[in-house]
Amino acid sequence: MSNATDSARNNLTIRPLGAALGAEVTGIDLAGPLDDDTLAAVQRAWMEHLVLVFPNQPLSDAQHISFAKRFGALEEHHQEIIKSRAAPEIFSVSNVDDDGNLMAPDHPSVAQISLAQRWHSDSSFRPVPSLGSILHGIEVTEDGGETWFTNMYKVYDGLDEATKVRIAGRRACHDFGHLATLGPIKPLTEAERQAMPPVWQPLVRSHPITERTCLFLSPIYNNAIEGMDEDEAVELVAELNEFAGRDEFVYRHRWSRDDIVMWDNRCTMHRATPYDLATRRVMHRTTVIGKGPVVAA
Ligand SMILES: [Fe+2]
Repeated sequence: MSNATDSARNNLTIRPLGAALGAEVTGIDLAGPLDDDTLAAVQRAWMEHLVLVFPNQPLSDAQHISFAKRFGALEEHHQEIIKSRAAPEIFSVSNVDDDGNLMAPDHPSVAQISLAQRWHSDSSFRPVPSLGSILHGIEVTEDGGETWFTNMYKVYDGLDEATKVRIAGRRACHDFGHLATLGPIKPLTEAERQAMPPVWQPLVRSHPITERTCLFLSPIYNNAIEGMDEDEAVELVAELNEFAGRDEFVYRHRWSRDDIVMWDNRCTMHRATPYDLATRRVMHRTTVIGKGPVVAA
């Protein structure tokens, strides 16, 4: 459905944000209905730049959810402590509770969200991992609390041949429960454990849209690699994690209020940077369900 009014209102300008990945998109109002041509232009830009930043988009949660649903069905998180009370599709990336109160730094939700300061791909622990995430900066921090993104196509291309051979055809285990070994989070309930049993995914995947090859890693969930003993697997994940974080592969996003940032979880990883936990930080995320199993490259 094309709508002349929407097309006139949305006149996209796409500006790359650096050499690695990321582009800023202006000339679009995400609160309104998007005609199919505009949506297709956003989709093309997303596949080309991997991370899109839309400044100054003061969306309600309902508008955020409507926009996100244009890209697919949305996940509901399997843990109550992360889900927003207002809408099950909203994942609350926040140190402020549903009643607006700042939570203590050692609150299990805050501790769990702080683990996202390590590189990861959202929901990689699901049998069908997420396609992409959309994050709205509602209350942002001046110092720290940035989100960094890394381009996993470039990371894969940049690996030396010996490493490419070492990981070729192997799968990594993605286990949500691995989080609990990394920090003082609330122990998983039996229901949470059963909802998310460990899954094995190819370390080298083919992106279903671009058909480009990339590394598929999510170190906060990776606790084993097929055909390797534990020490070797831990060492390899650490090595790949460090390599993926090199400056040449990374875009660092410094948040302004009402930025909407969307990223492709299939070919990027991201991490937050630390901030003063006495400062309020409120971010709402929607997470788009993947469209099929991960395909090995
Ligand atoms: Fe994340």
